[in-house]
Amino acid sequence: MYRLFSMGHFLDFLKLQYRRLRIGASMHRNDALGALHRAWGYVHATQMVGDYYEFGVYRGASLINSRLSQQHFRRHLERSRDLPFLRQGTVTLFLEHSPTFYGFDTFAGMPDNAEGEDSLAPGSFKADFDAVLRRCRHVGLGPPALQLFPGLFSQTSHNIGPHPAAIVHVDCDLFASAADALSAIAPRLTQGTILLFDDYNLFRADNCQGERRALAEFLRTHDITVEPWFAYGPASQAFICHHVVS
Ligand SMILES: C[S@@+](CC[C@H](N)C(=O)[O-])C[C@H]1O[C@@H](n2cnc3c(N)ncnc32)[C@H](O)[C@@H]1O
Repeated sequence: MYRLFSMGHFLDFLKLQYRRLRIGASMHRNDALGALHRAWGYVHATQMVGDYYEFGVYRGASLINSRLSQQHFRRHLERSRDLPFLRQGTVTLFLEHSPTFYGFDTFAGMPDNAEGEDSLAPGSFKADFDAVLRRCRHVGLGPPALQLFPGLFSQTSHNIGPHPAAIVHVDCDLFASAADALSAIAPRLTQGTILLFDDYNLFRADNCQGERRALAEFLRTHDITVEPWFAYGPASQAFICHHVVS
C-alpha cells in the first residue's frame, strides 16, 4: 500500500491508479502504454517465451506500464487454463517462464552527445534510482524479476540475460545510445521479438540521425530483418524481428 508521505508519492499513486484503470477497462490509446499493451498481447497470443528489455528507464513510467500489461495478459491466460482447447503443452510451457524485466539507464541523465537537441542535453532526464525501485515495488516488481543496471549501456551490456528477448523497448533518443543498445541485445533477438523504438521519427524522421540511423546501421551488419508493425505516439514505431537463418 502507498503511504501518502509527500506530494510526490501522492502523484505516483494517482498515476498508478490511472494506468490500472486504462488497462483494466481496455482504454488503449495509440501511445506508449497502448503499444506496450499490444506487444504483451502479442507475446501471450503467440506464447513467445522471453524477457522484457528496456534501454532508457528514466523514472520508470514505461517499465511500470509494461509490467501492468504483462500481469493483465498473464492473469487472462491463467484463467483460460480450463477451457477445452487442444493443449499440446505450449501454454503450460509459456506459463512456466516468468519474464524478467531488465532496465538499463545511467539514472544520471543523458550522456554527452552531439545531437544538438536542447531536450536531449547531457544530464537531462536525471532520475532518482531509489524512487524507481519504489514505484516498481508498487506493481509487484522487484528482484529477481526486476534487474536494473545503472550506467552507460556500453558499460552494462554484459548484464544481458540468458533467455531470448520477447520485447525490446529502445527509449534512449540518441544515435550512439540506440546503437549501443542494439549491439548489446543482438544475441537475444530471435524470430518474433518485438522491437519498440520510442523515438524512431525524432529529428524529423531523418535517416541519418537518432534511432533510425542506429537501426539501419545495425541491420546492415546482422542476420536480422525487421518488419514494420505499427506506428504509435508522436514519433514511435514498432517492428517484428525476423531472424535470418544463414
Ligand atoms: C526519454 S528517457 C526514457 C523515458 C522512459 N522510458 C519513460 O517511460 O519515462 C531516456 C533515457 O535514456 C537514458 N540514456 C540515454 N542514453 C543512454 C546511454 N548511452 N546509457 C544509459 N542510459 C542512457 C537517459 O538517462 C534517459 O533516462
